[in-house]
Amino acid sequence: MREKINAMIEKATELIQNAAELGSINELKVQYLGKSGEVTSLLKGMKDVPNEQKPEIGKEVNKARDIITNLIEEKIKDLQKKALDAKMMKEQIDVTYDEVDANRGSLHPCTLVIDEVLDIFTGMGFTVANGPEIELDKFNFQLLNIPKDHPSRDMQDTFYAGEDILLRTQTSAVQARTMINTQPPIKLVCPGKVYRPDYDATHSPMFQQIEGLVVDKHVTLCDLKGLLELFAQKLFDENTKVRFRPSYFPFTEPSVEVDVTCSVCHGKGCRICKGTGWIEILGAGVVNPKVLDSCGIDSTKYSGLAFGLGVERIAMIKYGIPDIRILFENDSRFLKSFK
Ligand code: FA5
Repeated sequence: MREKINAMIEKATELIQNAAELGSINELKVQYLGKSGEVTSLLKGMKDVPNEQKPEIGKEVNKARDIITNLIEEKIKDLQKKALDAKMMKEQIDVTYDEVDANRGSLHPCTLVIDEVLDIFTGMGFTVANGPEIELDKFNFQLLNIPKDHPSRDMQDTFYAGEDILLRTQTSAVQARTMINTQPPIKLVCPGKVYRPDYDATHSPMFQQIEGLVVDKHVTLCDLKGLLELFAQKLFDENTKVRFRPSYFPFTEPSVEVDVTCSVCHGKGCRICKGTGWIEILGAGVVNPKVLDSCGIDSTKYSGLAFGLGVERIAMIKYGIPDIRILFENDSRFLKSFK
C-alpha cells in the first residue's frame, strides 16, 4: 500500500509540474481529489485495510492528499500569475506615444462665437445667467409687455406646447425671470437655444441667442451705444463702427436695430454686406419702464438697457458662411476648417 501511495505522489507531482494551462490543472484536481479521484478512492479503500495497519496507512493517505492539494494550489497560483503578467504585457499603453494623425474634434463655430462673446462681456463685469428652453408664456411674452392677442406676437412665430407653455422664442425670457427675483444693480448675459417656426438660408427653427441686460440708476441709450461699440470692436476689429436704426420691440423703448461696419470691406460695400457697408447684428433698446414695473423694479428709480444677438448670424458674418443650414449639417470637412 505504501509503495502504491508513493508512486501516486510521484506521478501526480510530475503531472502537476508539467501542466502548462489552468484547464489541465483543473483536470488533475478532478483526477486526484475529485469524488472518484485517486486519493478519494484510497480513502474509501481504508475499510479493507487490516485494523492494525489502519492508523499508519491512514496517516500516509492523508499526507498524500495534503501534498497533492498543496502542489495543485501552488501551481494554480503560479499559472494565474503568469496569465496576468502576459495580459499586462499585451495591454501595455505607451503614454508617451504621440499619434500625429489622430482625427481630433474641434469646437463648432457657434461654440467659438458663444465663448468669445461671453468672454468679452464677463471681462466687462457681466455675470452669465441661464433659463429653461421650455418656458411659460408669462416670462417669454406677458412680463415683457406682450399680452395675449397683442399683434406684436406675430413678430415671433411660436411653438406652443400648451395654453401657457411654449418653446421660448427669445432669451429675453431670462430677463423677466431674473428681474422678478433680483433687485438692481443687474448686469448679465444669457446664452441659450430658442425656437421659432422659420426655415430658410438665414433662419433656422432652432437657433441660439445671447441676451444682455443692465439695470441700474441712470442707465441710458448712450450707455447702450458705448457698450455695443466696445463689444463690436472686440468681436470684429478695433476700427468697427456701430450705428443704430430705429426699430420696435414691445419690451424696449426706444428700440433699435444695431448695424456694424462690414468687417470684410470695412464699410466700402461688398457681396457680404450687399453693397451697403453695414451688417445688422442685433436688436436692442432701453428697457421699457412698463417691463421694470411688472417685474417689481421701481422704474422711477431705475432704468435699463437690453440687447439680443443671434449666435448663428454672428458666426455667418465672422466666418463668411453663406447659408445658416451649413451650421447644422455637421459635415466634418466644414467643421475641420475651424481647427
Ligand atoms: C429678439 O429676439 C429680441 N429678443 C432681441 C432683443 C433683446 C431686443 C433685448 C431688444 C432688447 P429678433 O427677433 O430680432 O429680436 O432676434 C434677434 C436676433 O436673432 C436677430 O438679429 C437674428 O440675428 C437672430 N434670429 C432671429 N430669428 C432667427 C432665426 N429663425 N434663425 C436664426 N437667427 C435668428
